[in-house]
Amino acid sequence: LSLKETVIRPELFEVEGVPLTQPIGSTWDQVWKFKARPDDVLIATYAKAGTTWTQEIVDMVQQNGDTEKCKRETTYKRQPFLEWFIPEPPSLRYSGLELAEAMPSPRTIKTHLPVQLLPPSFWEQNCKIIYVARNAKDNLVSYYHFHRMNKGLPDPGTWEEFVEKFMTGKVLWGSWYDHVKGWWKAKDKHRILYLFYEDMKENPKQEIQKIAKFLEKDLSQEVLNKIVHSTSFEVMKNNPMANYTKDFQGIMDHSISPFMRKGTVADWKNHFTVAQNEKFDEDYKKKMSDTSLVFRMEL
Ligand code: A3P
Repeated sequence: LSLKETVIRPELFEVEGVPLTQPIGSTWDQVWKFKARPDDVLIATYAKAGTTWTQEIVDMVQQNGDTEKCKRETTYKRQPFLEWFIPEPPSLRYSGLELAEAMPSPRTIKTHLPVQLLPPSFWEQNCKIIYVARNAKDNLVSYYHFHRMNKGLPDPGTWEEFVEKFMTGKVLWGSWYDHVKGWWKAKDKHRILYLFYEDMKENPKQEIQKIAKFLEKDLSQEVLNKIVHSTSFEVMKNNPMANYTKDFQGIMDHSISPFMRKGTVADWKNHFTVAQNEKFDEDYKKKMSDTSLVFRMEL
């Protein structure tokens, strides 16, 4: 058997009602006790909201636009993915916790945890947090294709089945609706910069400037323009340190659907049927009736 065939998709395991993977569940106590440091920067997102893009922007800002420094390692190792844990096989082992603990400060850490599951030390240490949200339909489409190509995730089933699972929150990291609303609420009490994928697409320079300001970095126009360029979809798609072609060989199959898939707003229009869309909208209205949060489904 080739390595590809020996990877078994994980089962989901609920932690406080939120579906995570079995390995994350087995190390949950350690995740919860994680010791954040005051100068940690946390990038929090629902999966497929533009995490990798934001990670690259943050690293570029921190490195003053030095593209070579940003190529020191893959995204995945430059910025530990806090809760992610793949115990075996040894060649594919990954422990975000171990990576983070061994990393000298200042650290930038990634998480997909919903706000109520964030280890308390991040609040206690008053860490800076950048949250990125993406409209539900595009987020769902991207998540569906990601499940297809990534054997580290449960089987998505058919498109119809996946839409249903997404709407009911029966997917890894739980309900998209609760995730975006929970973090939106948290921003009134904590140091959180809440950004939107659609704004980043529409005006990347402006959103990068917000990030730089939040990180207290004064960047020249020249450096800003350089960051806009090197974090564009086309450039990142061809950057092996950012496009996930160097990590998870045997787990991610880019021939099924590349990690850097489309990088656009409103691709959902190519996936939802009219009936599906109506059903989704009706349910969405109910689930989002108790928040001031507004998304743009197209530009
Ligand atoms: P699509 O599947 O819609 O193409 P995450 O990093 O949270 O897993 O999100 C992945 C999504 O962000 C994918 O969306 C991917 O193509 C998109 N993406 C990655 N880099 C991007 C960039 N520089 N600009 C725009 N979208 C980007």
